[in-house]
Amino acid sequence: MSRTLDGRVVIVTGAGRGIGASISRLFAQQGAKLVVNDLGAGPDGTGGDDGPARDIADEIVRGGAEAVSDGGDIADTATGKRLVDLALDTYGKLDVVVNVAGILRDKMIFNLDDEDWDAVIRVHLRGHFSTIKPAAAYWRQQRNPDGHFRIINFTSDSALQGSPGQPNYAAAKMGIIGLTASVANALGRYGVTANAIAPGAATRLTATIPQEKRLSGDRPAEDDSRSPDNIAPLVSYLASEASDWISGRTLGAAGYGVTLWNNPEVRASISSDGPWDLEDLGQQMEKEFRPLAEGLHPSIFMRQVPK
Ligand SMILES: NC(=O)c1ccc[n+]([C@@H]2O[C@H](COP(=O)([O-])OP(=O)(O)OC[C@H]3O[C@@H](n4cnc5c(N)ncnc54)[C@H](O)[C@@H]3O)[C@@H](O)[C@H]2O)c1
Repeated sequence: MSRTLDGRVVIVTGAGRGIGASISRLFAQQGAKLVVNDLGAGPDGTGGDDGPARDIADEIVRGGAEAVSDGGDIADTATGKRLVDLALDTYGKLDVVVNVAGILRDKMIFNLDDEDWDAVIRVHLRGHFSTIKPAAAYWRQQRNPDGHFRIINFTSDSALQGSPGQPNYAAAKMGIIGLTASVANALGRYGVTANAIAPGAATRLTATIPQEKRLSGDRPAEDDSRSPDNIAPLVSYLASEASDWISGRTLGAAGYGVTLWNNPEVRASISSDGPWDLEDLGQQMEKEFRPLAEGLHPSIFMRQVPK
C-alpha cells in the first residue's frame, strides 16, 4: 500500500504534545521520517523538559518508523538551524517544515506586561522564522522548482477574529499569516509552498482558557471530535506531493470540518484629485464604505463584548 508521505523528511516543532504529537503520529504512519522538536514547556512557555520530544520519537520508532528528537527552544534560531542540520545529517534531505510550537499568556490589553507580550511574540514569530530561514536556504540551494517542498504554519481564530483577551497571541498569530504569505511568494520559484492552519482542538492550551470565554468550538465534545488527531489529516495532505496547487492560503481545521479562508481583499476605494478635504473624506467614507463595513461578517468574538 502506498502511503501519502512515503520517504518525505519532515521537521515538526511542538511535537511532544497536543496537535504536534497527533501530526507526528499520523506522519509516521504515512511513511514520513521525522525530526521532532519540543521544549517541554508549560502552557505559558516557562520551564523545559526534553521528555516530551524524546517520548514521541521513541513511540514512533517503536511503531517501526523513523524519528530523531530535539528538546531545544524553537525561538532560539540556533535550534531551527540545528533541526535542519539534523534532518540533512540523519536522512540526507528535508521536504517539509511544520511549525506547531506555541504558548499562551492571556491578559486584557490594559493588564498586559511587556514580558507577556514579548514571550508570546517570541515563541510564535521567532519560532517560525527559526525553522523557515535555514529550510528556505537549503531549498534555494536545491534549485528544484518541482521539489514539492512545504512550509506549514500554525495561526489561530484568535487572530482572524480578534480575540479580546489575547492581544499578544492575536498579534503573533496574525504575524504568522503575513510571514506565510511572504514566504509563499518568495519561495514558490524554488518549489516551496507555504500555508497556515487555524486549528480548533481540545488540548492543554485550550484547557487554560476559562470555560465561559471559550468559543463553542473550544469546548470539550462528548465524542472524540475535538481530538487533536482530527487536525492531522489536513496537515498530512498539505505535506504531501499532491498539494502543489495551494500556497499562501489560510485554512481552518476543527472537529471533522476543514475551512478555506479568504485573504484580505480590497472591497471598495475612493480617491480625491489632491489632498483630502477632511469633511469630504468623512462624507465619502460614510457613503461608500459604511454600508459595506456594516455588512461584513461580524467576529465570532463580538458576542463576548458587552454593549
Ligand atoms: N488547540 C487549539 O484549539 C488551538 C487553537 C488555535 C491555535 N492553536 C495553535 O496550535 C499549536 C499547537 O497547540 P496545542 O493546542 O497542541 O498546544 P500544546 O500546549 O498541547 O502543545 C504545544 C507544544 O509546543 C511546545 N512548545 C512551547 N514553546 C516551545 C518552544 N519555545 N520551543 C519548542 N517547543 C515549544 C510545548 O512544550 C508543547 O508540547 C500552537 O501554535 C497553538 O497556538 C491551537
